[in-house]
Amino acid sequence: MQVDTNTKTAKQAAALIPAIRASQHTEKGFPLVRWLGDVKLSTEAKDSLIIRNIEANADDEFFRNLGAADIAQVPGLGSFIIGWTYDELMHISSLFGVNYKPVKKRELPFYKRMFQKIVIVTGSAQGFGQGIAEELAREGAYVVIADMNLPLARKVADDINSDLGDGTAFAVEVDVSNEESMEALINRVVLELGGLDLFVSNAGVLRAGDLEEMDLKSFEFVTKVNYTGYFIGSKYAARPMRLQNRIAKGTYTDIIQVNSKSGLEGSSKNFAYAGGKFGGIGLTQSFAKELVVDNIKVNAVCPGNYYEGPLWSDPVNGLFVQYLETGKCPGAETLEDVYEFYIDKVPMRKGCSPLDVARAIFYLVEQTNETGQALPITGGQTMLN
Ligand SMILES: NC(=O)c1ccc[n+]([C@@H]2O[C@H](COP(=O)([O-])OP(=O)(O)OC[C@H]3O[C@@H](n4cnc5c(N)ncnc54)[C@H](O)[C@@H]3O)[C@@H](O)[C@H]2O)c1
Repeated sequence: MQVDTNTKTAKQAAALIPAIRASQHTEKGFPLVRWLGDVKLSTEAKDSLIIRNIEANADDEFFRNLGAADIAQVPGLGSFIIGWTYDELMHISSLFGVNYKPVKKRELPFYKRMFQKIVIVTGSAQGFGQGIAEELAREGAYVVIADMNLPLARKVADDINSDLGDGTAFAVEVDVSNEESMEALINRVVLELGGLDLFVSNAGVLRAGDLEEMDLKSFEFVTKVNYTGYFIGSKYAARPMRLQNRIAKGTYTDIIQVNSKSGLEGSSKNFAYAGGKFGGIGLTQSFAKELVVDNIKVNAVCPGNYYEGPLWSDPVNGLFVQYLETGKCPGAETLEDVYEFYIDKVPMRKGCSPLDVARAIFYLVEQTNETGQALPITGGQTMLN
């Protein structure tokens, strides 16, 4: 993706583009829309494509009655290209001189569960986020791998694209705890894909420690990513969603926080993490009540431990190694003992996988009668009351 999202015109275009996408909504779902700015219409485009003219201040009713279009032209903002597949979008863009060589075509049957949904998963360069993004892409979504580790995010996106077809995944650098960075991410996704259907706030960090060990700097670092980052992400993700749902009446979009079982029950010597996650449930409920008028559902999923993921299994910094070295598990002498200590607490005697979390996300997106909930995925370890 390469547009300058920082110009005034780009910000104005980003504020309008979900309305254009929503105007094209059919029972199939939503198309993709891409902002090209001030480009010249070729004769081929003029003769073969449906072009609609739109005023920047058009009201919701105008968009509801716009009719099908391939290109929307807005004075002062330029051209917006509409396509029902990524290939189609890029083919129309190429009529305007945008470089595009189809490498591998996506097969996108309409029956896939996440067909054509535009999804951002933060912190998806590894761990749960990576697995969630892969599962969503397999079900037909366009996924944005948004992470502060850009090289790793690119690798994840490249792997998804070589499996599922070019243009399925996009890597974008973001720091979820930085407001400008988050605003730029959302605008960029909206300008290049047309809107946002699902925002998964997954990026998270953990610094364990008791009251004596924990310094303010570490506490604030954990809080800024896990708690404040969720607020910042939801603030900017909700903007295009509101507009889209208002025009395509009866449709829903979703914000989902990857919370934790530690957001439902306190965690000894891990209060910086648990406190921020508890706070995340408070934000989830409050955002849900505020955004319900705009058909934005806001829910949290609360996974148990993902033992195979890097957070636990990293041979240097992983929690298995840390907990063994700090004696957190009484009597544990090996990494296996640490694992047994934790698995003994789980009635179903297994950890939580990215597929388990993705299935919970599918449920929350597909259902339309639940918001503000926190769904445990813990093998029975944490039960709601
Ligand atoms: N691993 C578990 O056992 C477990 C259990 C319950 C909940 N969770 C939650 O799942 C989520 C993902 O955890 P994970 O174990 O996959 O973590 P992980 O450490 O494997 O991956 C986290 C990713 O987030 C990225 N990231 C960190 N800070 C960021 C920032 N400021 N901006 C953008 N990206 C950032 C990292 O670069 C990394 O790619 C977290 O919210 C975590 O609290 C994890």
